[in-house]
Amino acid sequence: MENKTVYLNGQYLPLDEAKVSVLDRGFLFGDGIYEVIPSYSGHLFHFQDHLQRLENSLAGIRLANPYNRDQWAAILEPLLDASIDQSVYLQITRGVGLKRDHAFPENVPATVFAMSSNLEPFAGLNQGIKAISMDDTRWKFCNIKAITLLANILHRQAAIGQSCAEALLVKDGYLIEGAASNVFAVIDGILQTPPKDHQILPGITRDVILVLAKKNNIPYSEDKISFNELQYASEIWVASSMREIVPVVELDSNPVSDGKPGSVWYAMNDIFQSYKKSLS
Ligand code: PDD
Repeated sequence: MENKTVYLNGQYLPLDEAKVSVLDRGFLFGDGIYEVIPSYSGHLFHFQDHLQRLENSLAGIRLANPYNRDQWAAILEPLLDASIDQSVYLQITRGVGLKRDHAFPENVPATVFAMSSNLEPFAGLNQGIKAISMDDTRWKFCNIKAITLLANILHRQAAIGQSCAEALLVKDGYLIEGAASNVFAVIDGILQTPPKDHQILPGITRDVILVLAKKNNIPYSEDKISFNELQYASEIWVASSMREIVPVVELDSNPVSDGKPGSVWYAMNDIFQSYKKSLS
């Protein structure tokens, strides 16, 4: 195990010395939230947007934010390395209770953990990935970036079990998002993605794609996509901080269009890569 430095509750420690109590509510209940923030050449990508989502997630689980935005920046700064691209993981749990009890503990400090890892370009970026579709079995607050990810994990693992890289989740006949990504489809020449509501995580990459689409005159809409419509899609993509924008070239063993990344993806990926560079 790489013994890098991580942050835990006010201290910077080697990873193997960072320990939390077995009574931590993150461990016992999955009672916490997290963020994953890319850092390109030492610059946190859309940091204020990630902090806004962090604040929304904390409010969603009724946990006070232990730090203000400047303090968060100061906490993460020592974990950054300007010579590489990284992903920064940040987790806040409801702390350590006196015993296992569903009710919130009183006057207990939150547990705050952060670490960074090398962010390599995703292997499937240029050739695209295979995906499966699955009925979305998650809860009703998918807009909260909760650490309670068992359903997402089971969805992703089902995809891996079928030699696929992502599961596309479907609810009531509509495409929702991926197990750990947002989803886009190009239908009739229009880039479409489901609107932000409690059923999806409001992805930072998703929002950046829409802003870049607008700036570059790529027609787009935020509308529900019925699963049936997907058969007419010329392109399907998934988007996340970890993988960026990835074309789905096969869905449920059927090729998407000609089974190759499409022209809108090539255009958007170039725009996105230049935008990243312009910020760092
Ligand atoms: N996941 N939807 C879900 C369910 C996700 O888990 C993620 C990201 C996204 C994309 O959000 P963003 O563009 O802000 O990364 C959408 C992270 C990367 C993870 O859990 O590792």
